[in-house]
Amino acid sequence: MSVKKAGAWWWIIAIFAFIAASFLAEPYALFNPALSRLELNPAFPLHYPLLVAHVLLAAVAQIIGPFQFLNGLRARRPQLHRLLGRIYLLCILLGSISAVAIIIVSLSSFERRAGFAVLAILWLLSAGQAYRAIRQRRIQDHRTWMIRNYAITLVAAMARVMSVFSVLLLLPQRNTTFAGHFDLLLAQAMETGFWIALVLNILFAEWLILSRRKRLDRQQATEAREVA
Ligand code: HEM
Repeated sequence: MSVKKAGAWWWIIAIFAFIAASFLAEPYALFNPALSRLELNPAFPLHYPLLVAHVLLAAVAQIIGPFQFLNGLRARRPQLHRLLGRIYLLCILLGSISAVAIIIVSLSSFERRAGFAVLAILWLLSAGQAYRAIRQRRIQDHRTWMIRNYAITLVAAMARVMSVFSVLLLLPQRNTTFAGHFDLLLAQAMETGFWIALVLNILFAEWLILSRRKRLDRQQATEAREVA
């Protein structure tokens, strides 16, 4: 599958990934702490540089990701696939190490930091499994783990979309549960959006993996019938 022959899902995911990564990374790419969307910890001067490193590395991984799933590119330019794969995995390794450091010094709520800690573990574990599989030449397992890993990469972007839905769902309760405090409603919506995105992305990845497996089984059965 080349870019021209890529299916609808590939295009939707690639365009979403590119737009979301640009939107998320833009304030940090200007290297101006005043533009940080997060409150910085004044007792920890490395908070901002770590955040910038994390955001830029994660954005690169998010943009590279979809190209790694193009069969045509992989078959015609295996060297490029390998190079992009190494860059992708390095971004995830350094992106999650910086994320762990940020979690420790962050001024955000415990619930938010705990969510990111779960995400960092899933990010590293799935990348490790994908890397181990390809070193052992288990190509199908490598693909399966890369699908899972990229679904985790996309949680950060998907969480923003789901937070908007959560705000809309919580709005009717603004004067009751939240006693008119829109900031509390927003914080709750962001937390809910994060977990909805994590569950949805994992489910979608497992659905893709299963449909792919079924398609391969059907192909193998047809080939076996033709040979017999
Ligand atoms: C999937 C694994 C990821 C983990 C574990 C992770 C972890 C974190 C953590 C801990 C923070 C700080 C949160 C806080 O202190 O409240 C953060 C912030 C941020 N992350 Fe990630 N992240 C991941 C993926 C991504 C991706 C793929 C992007 C895409 C560009 C991204 C973009 C950002 C941005 C822009 C911020 C700053 C918050 C904001 O401006 O809204 N992250 N991340």
